Amino acid sequence: MKHLTVFLVGLFLVVALVALAADAPKTLVFESKLGNVTYDHAKHNERVKNDCKVCHDKLFPQSRAPINFKAGMHKPAEAAKTSCAACHHPGGEAFESKANCNKCHVKAKAGA
Ligand code: HEC
Ligand code: HEC
Ligand code: HEC
Repeated sequence: MKHLTVFLVGLFLVVALVALAADAPKTLVFESKLGNVTYDHAKHNERVKNDCKVCHDKLFPQSRAPINFKAGMHKPAEAAKTSCAACHHPGGEAFESKANCNKCHVKAKAGA
């Protein structure tokens, strides 16, 4: 009986986690004239071992609210280590904006 309870509680946790992960978008697109930024939510998640708390709600709301990383915000965000620049800043764990525009901003190919 005790084993069954442990098994059921475990099963419930697995189902709850899968349901939660299923809620998470795979990619999110931020539109920009410089070339849209496709944010790979799934890949970023994997890198932090699915610890949602690394970003939600400390850095971003769990919704599509403004992320405060608009034009002219890259440098101030890097200085304050907020939004995407919490990690993407000089000397950070991910590439900074300087000289890396096209790692995030990808122009659609002509005709596409
Ligand atoms: C490395 C940062 C990061 C991590 C970790 C992360 N997210 Fe997100 N998430 C984002 C960003 C950025 C957005 C977009 C926010 C915005 O547009 O305002 C977002 C948006 C979302 C949205 C809203 C999508 C929509 O279209 O409305 C959901 C739901 C979500 N995340 C769930 C999760 C869950 C569940 C986890 C953990 C399994 C997680 N996120 C982990 C960065 C992250
Ligand atoms: C929790 C830290 C963290 C946050 C927050 C974060 N990133 Fe990243 N990002 C990384 C890491 C780590 C890499 C891989 C290392 C590298 O390429 O420098 C990466 C890589 C990328 C890449 C290359 C493709 C890929 O996923 O491998 C893009 C594009 C990118 N990030 C965009 C963004 C955008 C846009 C935001 C904000 C909406 C953001 N990141 C927020 C840590 C982060
Ligand atoms: C880490 C990813 C990342 C890098 C690197 C990056 N950007 Fe961005 N940029 C974004 C995101 C995400 C947005 C959209 C923000 C939003 O919707 O609030 C954006 C928005 C912008 C905007 C506003 C676009 C518009 O059409 O309203 C400009 C301008 C811009 N970036 C310029 C640059 C320049 C110039 C560089 C290189 C020096 C650069 N960015 C590097 C992620 C990045």
